[in-house]
Amino acid sequence: MDLVIRNASLPDGRHGIDIAINNGRIAEVAPALQAKGAREIDAEGDLVAPPFVDAHFHMDATLSYGLPRVNQSGTLLEGIALWGELKPQLTQEALVERALQYCDWAVARGLLAIRSHVDVCDDRLLAVEALLDVKRRVAPYLDLQLVAFPQDGVLRSPTALTNLKRAIAMGVDVVGGIPHFERTMADGAESVRVLCEFAAEKGLRVDMHCDESDDPLSRHIETLAYHTQRLGLQGRVAGSHLTSMHSMDNYYVSKLLPLIREAGVAAIANPLINITLQGRHDTYPKRRGMTRVPEMLAHGIDVAFGHDCVMDPWYSLGSGDMLEVAHMGLHVAQMTGQDAMRACFKAVTETPAKILGLDGYGLQPGCHADLVLLGAGDPVEAIRLRAARTLVLRRGQVVAESPRAAARLVLPGRPQQVDFRLSRRAGLAMKNA
Ligand code: FE2
Repeated sequence: MDLVIRNASLPDGRHGIDIAINNGRIAEVAPALQAKGAREIDAEGDLVAPPFVDAHFHMDATLSYGLPRVNQSGTLLEGIALWGELKPQLTQEALVERALQYCDWAVARGLLAIRSHVDVCDDRLLAVEALLDVKRRVAPYLDLQLVAFPQDGVLRSPTALTNLKRAIAMGVDVVGGIPHFERTMADGAESVRVLCEFAAEKGLRVDMHCDESDDPLSRHIETLAYHTQRLGLQGRVAGSHLTSMHSMDNYYVSKLLPLIREAGVAAIANPLINITLQGRHDTYPKRRGMTRVPEMLAHGIDVAFGHDCVMDPWYSLGSGDMLEVAHMGLHVAQMTGQDAMRACFKAVTETPAKILGLDGYGLQPGCHADLVLLGAGDPVEAIRLRAARTLVLRRGQVVAESPRAAARLVLPGRPQQVDFRLSRRAGLAMKNA
């Protein structure tokens, strides 16, 4: 074997597991493997997980913080205005440079697959070209999936539909949309029909910014589920944000959730961004504005958490850390039960991998040896500590390393080292399993 990782804990609660890796793939996963590795790593009981996956991001805008100026109010509207000011000044070189830098951050955080929307409303399709170039360049270490995103509305902006089709022809993977931003509810519904039919014709996946508002009557998710089912697109469609569902009437939602489930439409919430951008017209009480995550999970709907923005016109924080995303999602959705907390870890790993349709993702023999060793004993501890990614493997090769979170104390009569892992305490790891 090229590599054997000894004594790992796994996200499903197993402990004391060895993982043998050969030719970039997982060969065996079992306790006390006989196989010897050319290299051996002792996980010391820490968690080994498949890599983090971000189902919703905007790589054309990332790390542009301060260009051409900073968003002073921190609101969505100033963010959109700022993006409008920045767009004409974008150059391909600068876009590529920022995206590559973000991918460096991602790899260091164990984030090895990202679905990024790319704005197609600039007739030059500069960002599309830049991100297709980035996709090729990062392919050895990161899966970048691109969504053709008509930020200004596919019907509202005169050239958006043509540009979206051009972007797909150039190699963009997924059909995007933004129905709640079209001029009328009817136009929004029409945009969903047009885009779903185009995706069905081309055999593509769909991921729309859908109902990203506090308007309880923004119900484009219903239309998205309808056309998904009508066109046989089950399992290939995602609704991103779905924040209006937070404010919808409970009776209507009781009809809506089974329809989403029946259509096999997945949901992608973006907790960091939803909690900061939604509810801005409220005084008090202020709505949280994140979609109904636990209720959708209870209905068997796949729900992923996305990062959405990092250091861009809409959000001045973030560092590519999907554990920070899961941490915020857990709090906003009040998912503090034991199973619910583990579901939040799944929402930044397995579930987005399924939504992206990633091949060979997971911990079973035969899967790619893409793995993250975390400075935590289980998924809940990983979220609590936003644990260090002590080792990140891509196809069995180490691509990033970080020191474990620890501190040295200088206090008389107290230990010199502080280790924040309670999983070290005998028995706790078993309980958390
Ligand atoms: Fe977005």
